[in-house]
Amino acid sequence: MDHTLKLCVFFFFLLGLVNGSSAKSGFGQCHSVVRSWARSSLDEEMRAEDKHTLRDLLYFLHVPRTGGRTYFHCFLKKLYPNKLECPRSYDKLRFDPRKPKCRLLVTHDDYSMTSKLPRDRTSVVTILRDPVDRVFSTYEFSIEVAARFLVHPNLTSATKMTLRLSSKTRGVSTLDIWPWKYLVPWMREDLFARRDDRYSSGQNIIERNDSYDMEDFAMPLREYINHPVAMDVVHNGATFQVAGLTNNSYIAEAHEVRHCVQKYKTLGKYVLDVAKKRLDDMLYVGLTEEHRESATKFANVVGAQVISQLNAPNASLEITDNTERKSFSDSDPDSSEHKNSTSNRGVSEVTSSEGGEATKSNMTVGELMSAYEVCISNLRKIHSHRRVSSLKRISPVNFTKEARLQVPEEVLNEIRFLNDLDLELYEYARAIFYNRHKTLLNAEESWDISTSAYDLWRVVTLAITFAFFIFLYLLIVNVRRRTLKVKK
Ligand SMILES: *[C@@H]1O[C@H](CO)[C@@H](O)[C@H](O)[C@H]1NC(C)=O
Ligand SMILES: *[C@@H]1O[C@H](CO)[C@@H](O)[C@H](O)[C@H]1NC(C)=O
Ligand SMILES: *[C@@H]1O[C@H](CO)[C@@H](O)[C@H](O)[C@H]1NC(C)=O
Ligand SMILES: *[C@@H]1O[C@H](CO)[C@@H](O)[C@H](O)[C@H]1NC(C)=O
Ligand SMILES: *[C@@H]1O[C@H](CO)[C@@H](O)[C@H](O)[C@H]1NC(C)=O
Ligand SMILES: *[C@@H]1O[C@H](CO)[C@@H](O)[C@H](O)[C@H]1NC(C)=O
Ligand SMILES: *[C@@H]1O[C@H](CO)[C@@H](O)[C@H](O)[C@H]1NC(C)=O
Repeated sequence: MDHTLKLCVFFFFLLGLVNGSSAKSGFGQCHSVVRSWARSSLDEEMRAEDKHTLRDLLYFLHVPRTGGRTYFHCFLKKLYPNKLECPRSYDKLRFDPRKPKCRLLVTHDDYSMTSKLPRDRTSVVTILRDPVDRVFSTYEFSIEVAARFLVHPNLTSATKMTLRLSSKTRGVSTLDIWPWKYLVPWMREDLFARRDDRYSSGQNIIERNDSYDMEDFAMPLREYINHPVAMDVVHNGATFQVAGLTNNSYIAEAHEVRHCVQKYKTLGKYVLDVAKKRLDDMLYVGLTEEHRESATKFANVVGAQVISQLNAPNASLEITDNTERKSFSDSDPDSSEHKNSTSNRGVSEVTSSEGGEATKSNMTVGELMSAYEVCISNLRKIHSHRRVSSLKRISPVNFTKEARLQVPEEVLNEIRFLNDLDLELYEYARAIFYNRHKTLLNAEESWDISTSAYDLWRVVTLAITFAFFIFLYLLIVNVRRRTLKVKK
């Protein structure tokens, strides 16, 4: 008993300490900012009762490096005719959501995008991926795309060329799209600097065995994950995207909330509550890892409803705006880049014909699945071809499965630490995927978001103490009874 009391005193002491020191360093301010954001975000969510029904607009919240692009090309482009696709989906600057006569929006823009959409007529879908793999893939893709520029003699000429190209073609390139518009130029500059150093230093190049740590050729993974840019746009990226709090958010307060959560890890709880609620309300949540099951589920849940929606006799679409049609095939984030180099030109052509106009307005789910299978196997060939030809420019760096196994455990742990929110959200997404979330939710509900951390601690501590006393009491009573019985 004495022990419990001591424990309680210690708890309260600890709480006081946390509260006291935090007030000085802005924790109090941050706490109230984050909490009020969370409250209003949870309030604005509406009824979830018809969340299983596809609404007029399908919004694919594409978390980078989750494989969303194959869903876009191999499912959505086969389902929706081009004219129903919202103009320049991936391009925040030029998309005008005020008149969405369109039915499909696929974008890396975060959830705050829904503030510009007719919310009660919009269904949201997304795909999540294991956070460690997502960071690896982000690192690799940043370098892969940047390495394509190494065909140029120097950074100046590479940059000039890109500017000329983007003003000529009206398409959207990877460099216009968040987060690549930050990650690719950053890596491009870095790759050129390392190449210049190699050229000027002559022969003293150390070829290490580990592709993720070859500083003479590319930024080592460890340096990448600890860089401020990665902090801004990579880590916990899925959670921030679903919460609408990315560096690219439409909401003014998003940046303060995000900075607070990055500064005080305990506040992440509020962001997770919002993100989980939004996943709950989505029409579909897929998992990159469960590739086959996710695709089948997508075809049956989303595909089937799109087919019947677009074939409904009374589906009044009133599409009039055809002016920007030509650019639609370019909304793939990396199809339009570097078109001038021969290998990539070939790739772009295949990609756009691959993703071409939905041919049948009246396909079955089975037909959709077989079209998907063919499409994805072509797409995979194209991507791996493109990756090989791009990484050749920074050989001996080669990002393979075997090379990943060489990455030290400390680096993996660092990634996990930096992506704590994403790890929890991913577990939650898995639960949704396997329909296990009912029990999880119930456990979650006792955590009332409106109670402050302080109240929560107090309630929990009191409850534990109370339970302990009851237990003790019962134990004593029981023991007494027994001893009495024995005496009798
Ligand atoms: C970059 O390359 C271009 C084309 O070869 C050349 O004209 C230019 O002088 C180079 N710039 C620098 C700073 O080396
Ligand atoms: C290099 O890596 C391979 C496996 O990828 C391993 O078998 C080999 O022993 C390594 N060599 C050195 C010098 O570490
Ligand atoms: C987003 O992140 C990039 C890369 O770190 C940075 O340059 C940019 O200023 C950030 N934008 C905001 C609004 O924080
Ligand atoms: C089409 O008709 C069905 C029932 O016949 C109705 O539920 C639906 O709201 C109608 N859709 C439109 C866009 O009018
Ligand atoms: C594109 O490549 C061709 C040769 O393949 C070259 O003649 C042309 O100048 C290049 N265009 C640009 C804009 O660099
Ligand atoms: C769709 O296909 C079914 C049979 O597969 C056919 O009965 C129906 O008329 C078709 N509807 C349209 C709008 O083409
Ligand atoms: C990188 O590895 C892949 C297979 O994992 C291989 O096909 C490719 O040729 C390698 N690239 C280089 C430059 O060694």
